Amino acid sequence: MIDAAAVDAAVQAALAAIEAATDSGALKAARAAHAGEGSPLAALNASLRAVAPEHKAEFGKLVGQARGRVGQALAARETAIVEAETAAKLDAERVDITALASRARAGSRHPLTLLQEQIGDVFVGMGWEVAEGPELEHEWFNFDALNFDVDHPARQMQDTFFVDPVHRHLVMRTHTSPVQVRSMLERDIPIYVICPGRVYRTDEFDATHLPVFSQVEGLVIDKGITMANLKGTLDHFARVLFGPQAKTRFRANYFPFTEPSAELDLWHPTFKGGARWIEWGGCGMINPNVLRAAGIDPEVYSGFAFGMGIERTLMFRSDVQDMRDMAEGDVRFSEQFGMVV
Ligand code: PHE
Repeated sequence: MIDAAAVDAAVQAALAAIEAATDSGALKAARAAHAGEGSPLAALNASLRAVAPEHKAEFGKLVGQARGRVGQALAARETAIVEAETAAKLDAERVDITALASRARAGSRHPLTLLQEQIGDVFVGMGWEVAEGPELEHEWFNFDALNFDVDHPARQMQDTFFVDPVHRHLVMRTHTSPVQVRSMLERDIPIYVICPGRVYRTDEFDATHLPVFSQVEGLVIDKGITMANLKGTLDHFARVLFGPQAKTRFRANYFPFTEPSAELDLWHPTFKGGARWIEWGGCGMINPNVLRAAGIDPEVYSGFAFGMGIERTLMFRSDVQDMRDMAEGDVRFSEQFGMVV
């Protein structure tokens, strides 16, 4: 039989179970147990059929109100649980958009390094070796052994950084030519070496000068080496870097360590603004005095050397307007040359 106490007991049990449900799974179970088909309230509702007609309205209202209360409690609990669960999910999946990106940019290699390696490859491909020397150099290697007189104006001409204390005769090397002498002393003949490296001069820091820059030096010592070998080597070098139309020309010049000496010009066939001759570097046949200083008999051996600036080469090869861009290390400059890693 239906009575108010039984209905109230069913409602209290339902409300307690709903109250106790703290997640949507528990709430679903509470809904099935207290409002579903087999629930006490459903049974009470079904038993209304057996109630005498004069009591139907009274008990019908009682059960209806009870089901309404439970339904409301379920809906309210569901809203609260969905809100809490959504908040927890958002919190767990939160992205801190103010945080700094933790991934480092890939960057790219410096175009000077790339050109320097490309130059090395050209010569290594011909069987030459890469030679190196110190940037803090003894004056003897930088000047004396290269046949610069003690008071030869060239010592000043090259805008040398002399290093304290003066009596130790150390300089920041002004060119890569001292590596010629080091190679001659350290290596067996025949010598075919390419020597890229950093050099120092008290130059201004402007669009076409850097006080620290790079040169590449070439040196060959062998029997029967002539200026034709020098010319052929440089023409090949020019063609690899500047295309099949490129070539070189010599203009008579003076360097204490080469005789004869020449200023080296490059015919740049794809120069921005039209093909033209460009001053590229210096070269010549090794002066017998230099061979003698390195203990090599000039009656038996001869050789040639050349040297040029790598920044300058990069400037007119890649149409760089301002040399300072090469020194400042802004990755956006390097990226212009491709993301080679
Ligand atoms: N060392 C010379 C310079 O810096 C260039 C050079 C190298 C000239 C080799 C002749 C031979 O100006």
